[in-house]
Amino acid sequence: MVQLTQAVTAILLASGAVAHPGKSINKDILRRQAHLDHPERRSVQSCKRDLVASGWVREQHARREARLHELRVAGGFAKPNDLVRRNPAEVEGEYGAAAACTLDPEATEGPYWVIGELIRQDLLTGEKGAVTHLDINVIDTSTCKPVTDAYVELWGTNATGVYTGVQAKGNGDGSRTAVATNALRGLQKTGSNGTATFISLIPGHYVGRANHLHTIIHHGAKLLPNNTIQGGTISHVGQFYVEQNFLGQVEKTTPYNTNKQTQMLNSQDFLYQMGKQGGDDPNLHISLIGSKIEDGLYAYIDIGVNPKANYKPQPVNMWTEKGGIPVPGSPWTGYPDSCKNCGFGGGFPTRPPKERSEDEKVEEAFVA
Ligand SMILES: *[C@@H]1O[C@H](CO)[C@@H](O)[C@H](O)[C@H]1NC(C)=O
Ligand SMILES: *[C@@H]1O[C@H](CO)[C@@H](O)[C@H](O)[C@H]1NC(C)=O
Ligand SMILES: *[C@@H]1O[C@H](CO)[C@@H](O)[C@H](O)[C@H]1NC(C)=O
Repeated sequence: MVQLTQAVTAILLASGAVAHPGKSINKDILRRQAHLDHPERRSVQSCKRDLVASGWVREQHARREARLHELRVAGGFAKPNDLVRRNPAEVEGEYGAAAACTLDPEATEGPYWVIGELIRQDLLTGEKGAVTHLDINVIDTSTCKPVTDAYVELWGTNATGVYTGVQAKGNGDGSRTAVATNALRGLQKTGSNGTATFISLIPGHYVGRANHLHTIIHHGAKLLPNNTIQGGTISHVGQFYVEQNFLGQVEKTTPYNTNKQTQMLNSQDFLYQMGKQGGDDPNLHISLIGSKIEDGLYAYIDIGVNPKANYKPQPVNMWTEKGGIPVPGSPWTGYPDSCKNCGFGGGFPTRPPKERSEDEKVEEAFVA
């Protein structure tokens, strides 16, 4: 699980790793990075037996199957009695395998996190693209139970690769219009099944990164009267991706196909490769609601978290009634030209993802 802290950036900068990508990185940094990759080695896979035994895997599959069918019926693509269910034993057998959607490892929050976003399910706010009904289950990997009452935060770019709530040179067309809207950003509370649901878009691409959605999981936050949250702790900072072939089809649709920015493939993205480490799969599991992408999409993913983990991601801006305003002292201010946390993204050293040896795993268990 990758929490790319400022300390590590400083070490990488000092070692010249950022300035000279590809140069061999000091072993201590690698070990530190490997440790940061997996501070808690328990994953959704570790919980497979318990989640299957409790009936949770079966129930969640049935719930999601029914929800997709409901969307198909609502769109006129299926009849209410048409639902063909998959064999639940088969679903349980596959659960948690790398080929299934399981866990998104910790990743950097990146330069465009805006705090103070609203609690709401529909994040579209007028943005056009491949509308996606997202279903996210959060699992406590220390107890193997769903996490209730956590706030799942989600943000991604619009179809042409621009984040809202910020204005930055590296942010798509860099236009000022984006700073005035909170589209494609928001939070939802997990219910009794550990589920948060959203309506958003498949994110467009921008220079230096493969298409991705960001997520942050908040625990113990206080709900404010204006439908935002305050305080609490953050156990997970992650990114979701879209399988490359399917993404290629989305990119051919309007308005994705008007995006002038260079696209980076998943296979070229260092953070995606990190996300695939340790048997994790950060790809959303996506189904068409109708017969084509334009009919809408249904997507799900399960995230394993340790609710006691306490990460400190840094927002660049804060959402207010007047739009996005800078957070004083943010290490992301000035990205990509001059900022404390510059050196991520495109500038980050590309190191092939590496499976850790048994020795390293044991060692990590003792590193606080
Ligand atoms: C939780 O899942 C069960 C089983 O699928 C379902 O019956 C129930 O409605 C779900 N609860 C919520 C709050 O979604
Ligand atoms: C994405 O946002 C930018 C900035 O607001 C805007 O110029 C662009 O038109 C948007 N893309 C789409 C497809 O609406
Ligand atoms: C919500 O209330 C908090 C606390 O008063 C305030 O700081 C924040 O700006 C408000 N957010 C919005 C979007 O109005």
